[in-house]
Amino acid sequence: MTIYRARVLDTPDDPFTGGELRAHDDAGIAVEAGTIVDRGDFRAVADRRPDADVVDLRDGVLLPGMIDTHVHYPQVRAIGGLGMPLLDWLDQCALPEECRLADAEYARSVAHEFLTGLTAAGTTTALVFGSHFADAVDALFTEADRVGVRVTAGLVTSDRNLPAPLLSTPERSYDEGRKLAERWHGHRRLRYAVTPRFSYSTSPAMLESGASLAEDVPGLWFTSHINENPAEIAAVIDQFPGSTNYLDTYHRHGLIHERSVLAHNAHPTDAELSLMASAGAAVAHCPTSNSALASGSFPLRRHLEHGVAVALGTDVGAGSGFSLFKEGLQAYFMQQLLQGDGVPLTAAHLLHLATRAGAKALGMDDVGDLSLGRQFDAILVRPTAGHPLDVGLRHADSTDNALAKIFSLATPADVARVWIGGDEIAS
Ligand code: GUN
Ligand code: ZN
Repeated sequence: MTIYRARVLDTPDDPFTGGELRAHDDAGIAVEAGTIVDRGDFRAVADRRPDADVVDLRDGVLLPGMIDTHVHYPQVRAIGGLGMPLLDWLDQCALPEECRLADAEYARSVAHEFLTGLTAAGTTTALVFGSHFADAVDALFTEADRVGVRVTAGLVTSDRNLPAPLLSTPERSYDEGRKLAERWHGHRRLRYAVTPRFSYSTSPAMLESGASLAEDVPGLWFTSHINENPAEIAAVIDQFPGSTNYLDTYHRHGLIHERSVLAHNAHPTDAELSLMASAGAAVAHCPTSNSALASGSFPLRRHLEHGVAVALGTDVGAGSGFSLFKEGLQAYFMQQLLQGDGVPLTAAHLLHLATRAGAKALGMDDVGDLSLGRQFDAILVRPTAGHPLDVGLRHADSTDNALAKIFSLATPADVARVWIGGDEIAS
């Protein structure tokens, strides 16, 4: 039994429905076998458990582990391709790099770099877009299992409109996906997601093969892209003459349900939002990607009004890094720029979007905040002494202000320690 003594901030109650930031200046969090078994004022917890080891973390701020609901493993080396809209960026930056993962050795190196990127940023749970190559997806799961990060991922499937090395067939995608799902789905902290790249690169038969896999292996997740860019949306509608909107291309194959997470949705119709809400599907909002590719402004207000669950994704490598602090800040900026149409976001909203909202989107009830009964997935933000974040935290005039300074200034360099299920991740 270990008691972590720290200043703790988390958002167990959703600030979008009236909840407030929970701030505890001198908390004790008792952890047994990875689970939080007691929490309260440090003195009280220590008195109740006199035999426990105490880890003193008062030199930083303890937050729940960050949750990234959309990030591409094969794109670590593609980060920073600026100046293009989506379809050009895919052709010129992302897809040539993704072809290189055909080489299993190359893929293993990238998997290592990818897991390093996640943990260095304080991400403890992620829904990961895998690779088009089964061996590369296996390398991702192997590395995630070794490091201990909670990863949901799958084989990316496509059979049209991409470079030839990235194309497969519905039959081969099913067979390779099935092997991967049987090996990894439910193995320790890992789960499998059926992952068509986007409707533009998948025929109806390929979507149907994903639906069959989901039918044959119970409990699989589903993830893909949707409504990211106007030219992309027009191309999808062109490819699916029977569909009135983008969501329908997935929905008609039974792929939209409470285990579905759709990335972007910057240009949804009201009908799509209504269907997402009633199906219980969630949206991964990826604000640095939407800005870098000029994809559009995310209509957060409309998502909230329709009751669609929203969380954050970094969308590496169209997004500009692994930090959910940066995504939170960019989400805030974009809502500010929408003025009357935007949702004014507080630091508590940002923390919620980066943690508990992600857990809910991914159907994980045991992570996302540091309440009793949850897993001890946590990060210690401890800036270098004398740097602006350290100065800011010492001079913050309220807890909300301290959290706003963290979202404004924190980078992976400030994430000093990371725990997942009570295991400290080596940095
Ligand atoms: N749509 C299809 N593939 C991708 C991708 O790799 N990144 C983004 N942002 N959108 C996509
Ligand atoms: Zn993406």
